[in-house]
Amino acid sequence: MNGRDLVRSMRMVGSLGTAQGLRTVRAAWRRWRADAVGLPPRGPERARVPGVVQSAEPGPGGGVLRFSRSVLRITVAVNGAVFWGWDGAEAEPSYALAGGCPEPDPRAVLEPDTDGGWRVVAERVTVVVSRHGAVEVLTPGGVTLRRELPPRWWEPVGGGRARWMQRSEVAADARFFGLGGRASGPRLRNGTYRLWNTDPGRAFGAQDDPLYLTMPVQMVVADAATHLVFHDTSWDGTVTLREGEEGAGSGHDRMGMSELRMEGGPLRCWVMVGNPARVLLAWASLTGGAAVPPAWALGHHHARWGFGSEQEVRRIVSGHLRRGLPLDAVHLDIDHFDDHRVFTVDQERFPKLPQLADDLRRDGIRLVSIVDPAVKPEPGAAVYDGGEAVDAFVRDAGGRQVKGVVWPGEAVFPDFTHARVREWWGALYEERLTQGFAGFWHDMNEPTSFTAFGESTLPRSARHSLEGRGGDHREAHNVYALCMARAAYEALRELSPKERPFVFSRSGWAGLQRYGGTWSGDVATGWPGLRASLSLVLGLGLCGVPYSGPDIGGYDGSPSPELYLRWFQLGAYLPLFRTHAGLRAGRREPWEFGPDVLEYARVALLERRRLLPYFLTLAHLARRTGAPYVRPVWWWTPEDRALRDCEDAFLLGDSLLVAPVLDPGADRRAVQLPRGRWYDVVTERVYEGPGQVLVDAPLSRIPVLARAGAVLPVRGEDGGVELEVWAPVRGRTGGGLVVPDAGDGWDEPEIERYVARWQGRQVVVERESEGGSGEPDYPVRVRGLDRARSQ
Ligand code: GLC
Repeated sequence: MNGRDLVRSMRMVGSLGTAQGLRTVRAAWRRWRADAVGLPPRGPERARVPGVVQSAEPGPGGGVLRFSRSVLRITVAVNGAVFWGWDGAEAEPSYALAGGCPEPDPRAVLEPDTDGGWRVVAERVTVVVSRHGAVEVLTPGGVTLRRELPPRWWEPVGGGRARWMQRSEVAADARFFGLGGRASGPRLRNGTYRLWNTDPGRAFGAQDDPLYLTMPVQMVVADAATHLVFHDTSWDGTVTLREGEEGAGSGHDRMGMSELRMEGGPLRCWVMVGNPARVLLAWASLTGGAAVPPAWALGHHHARWGFGSEQEVRRIVSGHLRRGLPLDAVHLDIDHFDDHRVFTVDQERFPKLPQLADDLRRDGIRLVSIVDPAVKPEPGAAVYDGGEAVDAFVRDAGGRQVKGVVWPGEAVFPDFTHARVREWWGALYEERLTQGFAGFWHDMNEPTSFTAFGESTLPRSARHSLEGRGGDHREAHNVYALCMARAAYEALRELSPKERPFVFSRSGWAGLQRYGGTWSGDVATGWPGLRASLSLVLGLGLCGVPYSGPDIGGYDGSPSPELYLRWFQLGAYLPLFRTHAGLRAGRREPWEFGPDVLEYARVALLERRRLLPYFLTLAHLARRTGAPYVRPVWWWTPEDRALRDCEDAFLLGDSLLVAPVLDPGADRRAVQLPRGRWYDVVTERVYEGPGQVLVDAPLSRIPVLARAGAVLPVRGEDGGVELEVWAPVRGRTGGGLVVPDAGDGWDEPEIERYVARWQGRQVVVERESEGGSGEPDYPVRVRGLDRARSQ
């Protein structure tokens, strides 16, 4: 603690009210002291590089290369992903992998390369290792996608954990995406991005980094191919990116550069090569298919911190119903807890929660509960005592419980990296189910502990089980929320076996999608926050987490009616469609912004409801194929450079292109179209891609374009599913996939494939199956016909 910190903590005491402020300062002191004792200085360090290759041993899917000062294992797995690990690092144990390490591909073989190096040739990728340990990833055609230079380690002279650095080069035209949820993306520009899940402590803007959910996953898109690289290490680190530059005939190309520096952990990585769809399929097969939310969770959610009472919840709900505004879920924030204690209910203000839940459910509305990990250390309180009984709470190196400060005041933190603790915690959700909650909103799980200075989390020296291996918070921090999500998801599967769990979490790591989704945290109200919302959803989708969405209207302050509406209109096309705001923020109900906004918000809500079968199809496809619902416009044509740089529109599945309005005062906007014909879904006006077009964007709606030939399931007027078909270009065919609604259980409905084609002056749709093709079981509505006929 230095002088400046002290001044800041004194201010904090003032701004938090004396008791809470003092607790925060005390917690900060304790944290600092714990680290000073638990993490002695490293002393002098020695640098190391692999040296020169000495020998090679082929093995299944690749082999082992021995260098003078390190060892490298390379294995190509059956799903086409390549693994390599230095210094004896194996693929497991890993928090990211879903079902363990996939089998090696027996067809991939290690063979000598030129200049004393070695190579592994597989079906979709070639890996070349130089005699000094540079690892190059090439397409089957021999184009270099990534070149990892020989790594460098720094080790304490007396031995111990190594820090390491891995510098890589990528093609000059490559663009970087991913690294979890980043507000300034989706294209990650030059800069340094930290890998440490962080609550910024206030509503965040576009420049705030890192945020709540980081992960060492990069998707790199270049002309030659797309690749995804995952450095499987949960430790604190940074990634410095520099995009390349092409010489354009007048000079040399400058390669793009990525430099990963890690404070510890194994140096191991996975690489997947192909087009974006193939790469994410391999990623999902490695880290797990995304949990399919129950259908209601694909509808409209409304939350706020400070509904304050059952009466207020009922008032808000009836406000929606009375005005014909579809509502599917209401979220209760920490103000429904008894004095902010998790797994309790304030009986005065919410005396009949199960009754409220029942009444809402009759109107098709579910209740979702916030769940924070921090537990108030009060002997005699059920949650704390239960945790104590299984020794659940994180301790410091001296064996004392680590205390922080969160909403209930002083708090202790379950160690979710221990199976026994996950089991105890998971059982607590039974109380929530009894209260009538149907879904769970994990918060403050970076984990956050308010501090007067420095980082708002646990001491780095805090001890964690890490599945029995033992370690400290530096390794456990980034997987804390992932393990909490696992605890909830696995328990809910048992507690409520007939229903798919609905869990979404502020923080997480690679593989979070197995258990649920996320949201963007406390985004600052303002136009930059609106843009950041889209960046987060797109970036997370490219890291394999397809279900997310922002706090519509922003978390703090009061949006202008126009900003609120534009946010609402965007949110209606994102997987998690939720209005939410903080305690002191202005209201967020659509009727609070005047009659026009109310009317246009209703239009957006009704359209979302109409598209529900399509969203459900996208949710199932995300699980089976890894393709996110919300995809960048370059999804099918990553080689189109104008699309690669387009960040203000997205594809919703294969059929729709959504172009939100992200600036004030707009009534039309430019849209960068992928190739093909596109129809404005409201006016049916035709646009031809590729290229940029200007489309109308009146206040009443944001532009949504349908791909010619698209077949998508929508909800018809009678509530049943119908197929909406957009006339293909004459002489061409179109099609689409439908996954029928099989309820909120575990049935795996079959994917239905439809083809649309011209027959004379009509467009007909047929269902394709193994036995041939036949009439669809749904009513069909063809749109864009007049336009198509007249072209
Ligand atoms: C955090 C969450 C926010 C929630 C608040 C109170 O700031 O990000 O969504 O409303 O805590 O629980």
